[in-house]
Order: sequence, then structure tokens, then C-alpha cells
Amino acid sequence: MGLYPPSERIWWSEPIAKTEIVWIVLAFIWGLIMFFMMIYWHAAGEQNLSNEAYRIDPEVFAERTEAMVEKYTVREQGETGIPVVHPPPSSDVYLIARTWEWWPILELEKGESYRLHLSSMDWQHGFSLQPVNINLQVYPGYEMVLTLTPTETGEFGIVCNEYCGIGHHEMLGRIIVVEK
Ligand code: CUA
Repeated sequence: MGLYPPSERIWWSEPIAKTEIVWIVLAFIWGLIMFFMMIYWHAAGEQNLSNEAYRIDPEVFAERTEAMVEKYTVREQGETGIPVVHPPPSSDVYLIARTWEWWPILELEKGESYRLHLSSMDWQHGFSLQPVNINLQVYPGYEMVLTLTPTETGEFGIVCNEYCGIGHHEMLGRIIVVEK
């Protein structure tokens, strides 16, 4: 038996083979399961962050970040001179994305919660926290806010994962987690 065009032009009123109906029903049920799993994983999964987004003027965001940096800088990072900031636990912490850096370097305490605000000064960047694989898009004019509670000490890398121009591959940042 070969493959031929249907002999009747109105092919959809042809009877459907039982196996085909079974597969259509199975695929439909599986589709529904996958759909409701999205809602389930939002609550129960560990990979999907419940973050918030608000409109913000890039200048206002820069002012808030600079105020935090001015108050809580503990040292500067060697070669780059980027400030390392140690804000108090439970506070609002700010991280700027801009061509082509993450500013400043945040030093957080293990087991404490912070409200992390992310925004861009110019165009779209991607916040990718390594090696924990947290990914967020960062836009100018909007701040992404999430509650962050580090569970391990160490140095975490931030990679920009949205192509943002010639220096994209050098846009690396850092979050340091220390003991209380
Ligand atoms: Cu910033 Cu790519």
C-alpha cells in the first residue's frame, strides 16, 4: 500500500482509524498534563523563580545602587576596581547591568534573605547565575525583583546570556557568599 492523496476531496469526513483516535487522545491528555505541570512546578519546582517586575527610570535605579555602594562598600576588587559591597541581611540590594559589566560585586551572607533588584542602564542583558543556573532577562526601564537566600558559601559567577554587542562575552560579574 502506497501513500496517495485522499480519494474524496472532503477528507475530514472520512472515518478515522481507531489507532489514530487513540494517539490523538493520548497526545491531548499528555498536552494537558504538561500544561498543568507548568503551574505545579511554579509552586513546587526549585528552578522556577517567583520574581516580580516593576517599571523604573534607569537614573532612579542608578541612584539607589550608588547609595547602596556608597554605604556598604567593604573593599575594591583588585584588577578592575569594582566595589565589593556587603549590604545588611534582609535589605534591598541592587545590581546594575550595562555594557559590559555587572556592577557592583555583591557580598551576601549564607542563610540570610535579600531582595535583589536587577535592571539595565542601556539595553537588554541576561542574568545567568552560575553554577546554579538561575536565568533572568534584564531590561532598561524595568527592575526585576526577587528574594534571594544563598544556601552555600563561595563565589558565584554572573554571565550575560543575551547578546548585547562586541563586549558581550566579557560581561562577567560576581556574587560572593560568606558565612555569617
Ligand atoms: Cu550583556 Cu550580553
